[in-house]
Amino acid sequence: MYSDIEKILIPKDEIHAKVKEIAAKINEDYKGKNVIMVCILRGACVFFADLIRELDFNVAIDFMAVSSYGSGAESSGIINIKKDISEKVAGKHVIIVEDIIDSGNTLFYLKKLFLERKASSVAVCAFLDKPERRVKEIEADYCGYSIPNAFVVGYGLDYAESYRNLPEVCVLKSQVYEKH
Ligand code: IMP
Ligand code: MG
Repeated sequence: MYSDIEKILIPKDEIHAKVKEIAAKINEDYKGKNVIMVCILRGACVFFADLIRELDFNVAIDFMAVSSYGSGAESSGIINIKKDISEKVAGKHVIIVEDIIDSGNTLFYLKKLFLERKASSVAVCAFLDKPERRVKEIEADYCGYSIPNAFVVGYGLDYAESYRNLPEVCVLKSQVYEKH
């Protein structure tokens, strides 16, 4: 897998320290509240599993699968719900957990959706952010790293369903996606 990697952007130890930092803020802000953490599949699953284990109060968890990408590296702008959550969000505090905010299309859509479903509040927690690429106006309430405009994989993030199990966040060699 590493033969397709240009460089390691965020090593394992840094990732784990950052997850603890984010969790500490959520612990402070939400303790005692009725919280549902919504993991956006599949990219956020690794971050999500690490994050919820650092929370020191009771939370409900749920999963949603959406797509805006084909198998390529550009956002189509059209969001499809492939799998919806099972729980009701009305009257609950929703924290959407995403791997990365790129164009912002996905999170813009999801935030609006949960507010329409009468969540008490909706916050966005994204491990990574590529602010240069933003098309929709949306900011993360909790964010791990702002990164430059490069295509990254690992720590849950994929290119065409590969590289998700790399434990670091890595920059993919551009030849890998340019050849498709
Ligand atoms: P947005 O709707 O354009 O903000 O796209 C968000 C989704 O695009 C994320 O959940 C990722 O699945 C995917 N994505 C955006 N940038 C990258 C990247 O650099 N590597 C892997 N996936 C990415
Ligand atoms: Mg994703």
